[in-house]
Amino acid sequence: AEQNRELRERLMQLKKERNAIILAHYYQRDEIQEVADFRGDSFLLAQKAAETDADVIVFCGVHFMGESAKILAPNKTVIIPDERAGCPMADMVNVDGLRKLKAQHPNAKVVTYINSSAEIKAETDICCTSANAVRVVNSVDSDEIIWVPDKNLGHYVQQKTDKKMIIWEGYCNTHDMLTVKDVEEMKAKYPNAQFVVHPECRPEVVELGDFVGSTTAIIKYCKESDCQEFIVGTEDGTGYQLRLDSPNKTFHFATKYLVCPNMKVNNLKKLVKCLETMQPQIYVPEDVADKARLSLERMLQVK
Ligand code: 13P
Ligand code: SF4
Repeated sequence: AEQNRELRERLMQLKKERNAIILAHYYQRDEIQEVADFRGDSFLLAQKAAETDADVIVFCGVHFMGESAKILAPNKTVIIPDERAGCPMADMVNVDGLRKLKAQHPNAKVVTYINSSAEIKAETDICCTSANAVRVVNSVDSDEIIWVPDKNLGHYVQQKTDKKMIIWEGYCNTHDMLTVKDVEEMKAKYPNAQFVVHPECRPEVVELGDFVGSTTAIIKYCKESDCQEFIVGTEDGTGYQLRLDSPNKTFHFATKYLVCPNMKVNNLKKLVKCLETMQPQIYVPEDVADKARLSLERMLQVK
């Protein structure tokens, strides 16, 4: 605790010196969420990165999030606590594969989940997050959509839109691990609890949800609901904001495996160190960034 106090003091000092802003995803460790200027889901954090007038953005999340921040704020310095924090789902789609699919479906528009590399975004018509996926797909002026990379979110969106979606086979290792059996056992154990679930989970698991949404949407739902007890079907870091917003409610994570190891690579010590050394920095080649930026800016304009 003493060490963390010293780290936090050093952090505040560095933040001032560098004119930096700290953004943290809800899946980050508590010790990082505690010191962030903004906590949020992928959508809010992309918005904050685009809007900030700080000189430095410290992005506590996984690599694609830092990349999106750099693309949206090309004149800012974007640093991350550890460049090994990647997203396995983002790595499940490659440019060659996507180009092949585009050649096979020349009339389709490409909608890409923000959990993807800058190179994939550069091949994309419009990005989305789990918070706006249905709205984004419906906003596209084509009846045919190529959807990458998350098959589970893709399946969820397909149920809510009339457009024909050609869905890539990627998935999130962490959310995809949750099974119907896990959820049914928890429901039997906590019969008064509602099940709130992220659409990165398997379709048959999402189907069991009393509420389905992005991390922000789940947190908001739990806060506003009359229900006092929840089974949570998303990454365990969301517990920080859930308990902060609803201190008198009870939250049971659906399994103890709902932990994204990449998100947990970052810690307070590395956060302080990256502001000290200004490394590692995110770099995106200009031609890639210019194309990718269009797809992200289009997303930010969808109401
Ligand atoms: P959201 O916070 O946008 O719901 O994203 C979930 C996720 O898996 C991010 O990696
Ligand atoms: Fe990627 Fe899943 Fe981790 Fe999010 S939770 S960063 S989608 S692996």
